[in-house]
Amino acid sequence: VTSPICVLVGPPGSGKTTVGELLAERLGVAFRDTDRDVEAAQGRPVADIFVDEGEEAFRRYERAAVVRALAEHDGVLALGGGAVLDPATRADLAGHRVVFLSVGLADASKRVGLARDRPVLMANPRALLSSLLEARRPLYDEVASATVATEGRDPADITDEVARALSALAESR
Ligand SMILES: Nc1ncnc2c1ncn2[C@@H]1O[C@H](COP(=O)(O)OP(=O)(O)OP(=O)(O)O)[C@@H](O)[C@H]1O
Ligand SMILES: [Mg+2]
Repeated sequence: VTSPICVLVGPPGSGKTTVGELLAERLGVAFRDTDRDVEAAQGRPVADIFVDEGEEAFRRYERAAVVRALAEHDGVLALGGGAVLDPATRADLAGHRVVFLSVGLADASKRVGLARDRPVLMANPRALLSSLLEARRPLYDEVASATVATEGRDPADITDEVARALSALAESR
């Protein structure tokens, strides 16, 4: 039975994709991202799926992608920011090495502002991001084996700390 070496969770702009790619490179393993898996399976961007079919449909595709990736992938896995909304996914994450990349509103809005492909935030970016960070925080806490704060730090630094957190988790088993 394979299992990801690390599962990264966190809100939009926490750096799951950025840090995940760096961590995978450093550990010499493959990187996988459930958002990309959904896009590949559906043949269109996440934003288009939201517009065409709505969030609920996207969450179903995402759930399937999470189940498959947890079972198949042995490298670094980044989950989509909202994947932890699904109680079945939170239950499935028990027993995995899950690292929560936390971020505050200031850095999250700066980073999210750098990309325009986040459909959940389209109407009123700052207010939505703020309530999303608040509402999801307990869900990330619930699934996390370790938490790494990303506020004001560069991706290389954060990657170092995630790698250290993984070593500490391995030792504590
Ligand atoms: N520690 C950091 N410092 C500065 N910029 C960062 C940092 N981490 C990520 N970024 C930048 O912020 C943006 C969002 O990062 P990234 O796509 O990795 O976040 P994500 O958690 O994967 O978001 P999503 O949930 O939307 O997939 C990117 O442009 C990235 O380059
Ligand atoms: Mg990402």
